[in-house]
Amino acid sequence: MDRREAIKRIGMALAGAAVMGTGAASLASCGKKGTKRIIFYFTGTGNCLYVARQIGGDGAMLLSIPQVMKQGELNFEADEIGLVYPIYGHMPPNMVRKFIKKARLKAEYKFAVLTYGNRKCNASEIWDDISRRAGNAFDYVTTMIMVDNWLPNFDMNEQIKIDKHIPESLARITADVSARRRWIEPVTEEERQQHQGFIAATGIDPEKGFTWDSAQCFTATDACIGCGVCADVCPRGNWSLTSSGVKTEGECEACFACIQNCPQRAIQFNKEGNIMLAAGEKNPNARYRNEHVSLWDIKQANR
Ligand SMILES: Cc1cc2nc3c(=O)[nH]c(=O)nc-3n(C[C@H](O)[C@H](O)[C@H](O)COP(=O)(O)O)c2cc1C
Ligand code: SF4
Ligand code: SF4
Repeated sequence: MDRREAIKRIGMALAGAAVMGTGAASLASCGKKGTKRIIFYFTGTGNCLYVARQIGGDGAMLLSIPQVMKQGELNFEADEIGLVYPIYGHMPPNMVRKFIKKARLKAEYKFAVLTYGNRKCNASEIWDDISRRAGNAFDYVTTMIMVDNWLPNFDMNEQIKIDKHIPESLARITADVSARRRWIEPVTEEERQQHQGFIAATGIDPEKGFTWDSAQCFTATDACIGCGVCADVCPRGNWSLTSSGVKTEGECEACFACIQNCPQRAIQFNKEGNIMLAAGEKNPNARYRNEHVSLWDIKQANR
């Protein structure tokens, strides 16, 4: 980009600052000429950041939900507002749920992309219901299959070999969003029943989704070198370096950013601490981060 283009872009971003209240953000143009688009995202291993970037193109403003949640008021206005999150038990992460309840999102068009790895069930309907009840109804809700980062059931080295048709999904979603398609991805009765079965088997509160206690779920072995990556990638700030080693405590989003990004593979599940982790890991030697997303990107998004 030459200097003239850079100045033009900065000017467009400043002119596009149409944000209300103190949840301020300046907006950049994207997609159709002059359209202001914000995309919020939540990510543990980079899939959702990658999708947000791809759909946003050059001009959208990408905002990390863990970062914006640090603000007092969450009032945002743009022509188009998007949201990308990973489904956990077919539901949004707890922080995404809190965000949508607290935020006031004003846009002509709101779209949500829910990434998953293996079984989506009625995820689109769940989001439609949660966002409507929060007063932030979305015009378009779709799911998109990617690498499944759920370590108890999946070997990350095998997952990355599976063709999940990501370019095709991105092309479909980008075309839909560009056309401002109004559509909530339909679900079947069987998918609803599968989700109910999951809720009954796990005892998870469907109004909260996954909320764990990180001290109960994770432990760091002697392989830890005190690098601090876990502290930097945790969206809840649950990890700290102490004089006696690395320590974790606090309510956990179950995003797996810590266990997946630890360069020493020193973080392991406490099998006794959580029934969902009792089986341990499918392959303790395999870890995952989206190939287009750097460790630095995850740190920037979550710390
Ligand atoms: C706690 C947890 C629960 C998950 N639950 C599901 C699920 O119910 N169905 C599914 O297909 N994938 C599930 N996944 C996989 C993620 O939704 C998927 O890998 C997602 O793309 C990860 O996005 P990220 O890389 O942005 O964190 C789960 C992952 C985690 C960590
Ligand atoms: S990321 Fe791993 S090696 Fe680094 S401090 Fe945390 S547990 Fe230790
Ligand atoms: S402790 Fe690990 S799994 Fe829990 S919120 Fe932090 S990074 Fe995510």
